Amino acid sequence: MSQPTIESILQEKRLFNPPAEFSQGARIKSLEDYEAIYQKAAADPEGFWAELAEQELDWFQKWDQVLDWQPPFAKWFVGGKINISHNCLDRHLTTWRRNKAALIWEGEPGDSRTLTYAQLHREVCQMANVIKDLGVTKGDRVAIYMPMIPEAAIAMLACARIGAPHTVVFGGFSSEALKDRLVDAQAKLVITADGGFRKDKVVPLKPAVDAALADNAAPSVENVLVVQRSKENVAMTPGRDHWWHDLQAGASYDCPAEPMDSEDMLFILYTSGTTGKPKGVVHTTGGYNLYTHVTTQWGFDLKDTDVFWCTADVGWITGHSYIVYGPLSNGATSVMYEGVPRPSNPGCFWDVIEKYGVNIFYTAPTAIRAFLKAGEHVPNARDLSSLRLLGTVGEPINPEAWMWYHLVIGGGRCPIIDTWWQTETGGFMITPLPGATPTKPGSATRPFPGILADVVDLEGNPVADNEGGYLVIKHPWPSMMRTVYGDDDRFRRTYWEHIPPQDGKYVYFAGDGARRDEDGYFWVMGRVDDVISVSGHRLGTMEIESALVSHPAVAEAAVVGRKDELKGEEVFAFVTLEGTFSPSDQLKAELKQHVVQEIGAIARPGEIRFADGLPKTRSGKIIRRFLRNLASGEALSGDASTMEDQSVLEKLREGD
Ligand code: WT7
Repeated sequence: MSQPTIESILQEKRLFNPPAEFSQGARIKSLEDYEAIYQKAAADPEGFWAELAEQELDWFQKWDQVLDWQPPFAKWFVGGKINISHNCLDRHLTTWRRNKAALIWEGEPGDSRTLTYAQLHREVCQMANVIKDLGVTKGDRVAIYMPMIPEAAIAMLACARIGAPHTVVFGGFSSEALKDRLVDAQAKLVITADGGFRKDKVVPLKPAVDAALADNAAPSVENVLVVQRSKENVAMTPGRDHWWHDLQAGASYDCPAEPMDSEDMLFILYTSGTTGKPKGVVHTTGGYNLYTHVTTQWGFDLKDTDVFWCTADVGWITGHSYIVYGPLSNGATSVMYEGVPRPSNPGCFWDVIEKYGVNIFYTAPTAIRAFLKAGEHVPNARDLSSLRLLGTVGEPINPEAWMWYHLVIGGGRCPIIDTWWQTETGGFMITPLPGATPTKPGSATRPFPGILADVVDLEGNPVADNEGGYLVIKHPWPSMMRTVYGDDDRFRRTYWEHIPPQDGKYVYFAGDGARRDEDGYFWVMGRVDDVISVSGHRLGTMEIESALVSHPAVAEAAVVGRKDELKGEEVFAFVTLEGTFSPSDQLKAELKQHVVQEIGAIARPGEIRFADGLPKTRSGKIIRRFLRNLASGEALSGDASTMEDQSVLEKLREGD
């Protein structure tokens, strides 16, 4: 069960045509249709998006210019006025969808709640009024640190409604990580809950907010709004902390959506990069609304009768785009689930599918690999016959997991869309259209219409079919990130300078390696930078190294990813100690816990190896390639003669 390598996927020749019945009912019914739309969009991307923007969204005022492209800075629908909360809610209220389920929520202890569009609208308006009363005005940033409960989506839509950009911080991040984000975003308000339920435990969220705000560490924060969920006793600081249920009781249902500039910031979402602290990816209103709307509609071939379920957490971009904004903009029924699969409840996803008759199911390869391991008797004991379409996201899917998903979960009848995208791209970029694109297990297939993707070398020249290269996007698209919050320079350096402009045209560098086959299908190989993916969660090796080095015992640290059957990769850390400390199992455990404290449980090293020294070039650069080899017990790839101290490798190889 390994990740696809060039060798393994070159042998992957299986091709699955969309089932005829599915294609007949689909929006885009054949490969010819896809190709015609793709060609038309490629010839005039601005025209293509403008037509959809006009047709699919409500605008308070039409734009003057579709695209203003001053590389690497893009503006879409310039001069247009729009509000995504209006497009997700208000416009459905004048139709039959008024009383359709917008959110179906399944809580972890077994409680559940359904909100119709009318009900969701009311609560969003109430929360918008409450946060206005707490002094939040258009442009102020609001942090959302929540469990997977309806109020998380309500908070996002409330912020969008009044034009306050949100920054959702995954509830699994530590108070340290939260503090960094509050400071970087200069958040004025934090919306949180007392606690959330995760893997049979209560996650203390409010105490983590208190810790993040202690000693005035995030002075921009004026108020904390607390949703009652776990019903534990939490400390409330008078004047600063407020219970949502108290303020909701007096809040009006009336809160008109603020007409936003198409380019006004909708949200910041932090993601890990190669260097430094996580960067705040900035998304704006109009383009993001359009792109997530259209990709949800075409990629999932959404029908009004569908029950749609994306299993991500709203703390990640997948939850933003495909639990909240994309589905609700389409007037769909979106399922939100507080639980996560775990050994004590390996069938929980299948229970939710059976309970609500889920038709479209979107999850991550790491979850599929875990289910595969738990055995097919678990899903086979549930009725999954409502499913008609499956999706995956987050990392390459190994063909074995793909086949299992197809046969055991999809009963052989459901197309699978393997969607390649990133926090930075806002919505999926390379994906099958399920009624049109024949699929190959392990390939995200072909670009979405309007997306000009390519595989190039470091000079920017396209590489031949089936040769590895770098995945790039050659033309702006509506939901592309606009910048790194507060750091235009980092935006330029990270995404636009690795590959030089081609004929004066800037190309977006995704940070992934890929290959394109003779049918124009893309096979994404994974990151080419120092970013690793643990259970589909993106972590910067530098970030974990800084966390380790902040412990008094650690002199130097180098982190690499080691292949893991279930998680894709796991964190492997090499550590040298300060003189007065000596290696011990206890210190290892302490360092692991230290990383959890600094970042969160997702970053906990699977293994720490103490070393006397790290392999370095003569100029002092750590040779990570060798560390990766050592971590996975492979032979060294390449020549060690440029190393400063040859004996270091011998010692490292001996391990501990
Ligand atoms: C990185 C982006 C986009 C939502 C979840 C992750 C990897 C994502 C695929 C896929 C192969 C994939 C890439 C990408 N990735 N989807 N279908 N096949 N790799 O978002 O945390 O921003 O991570 O996830 O390496 O660069 P993210």
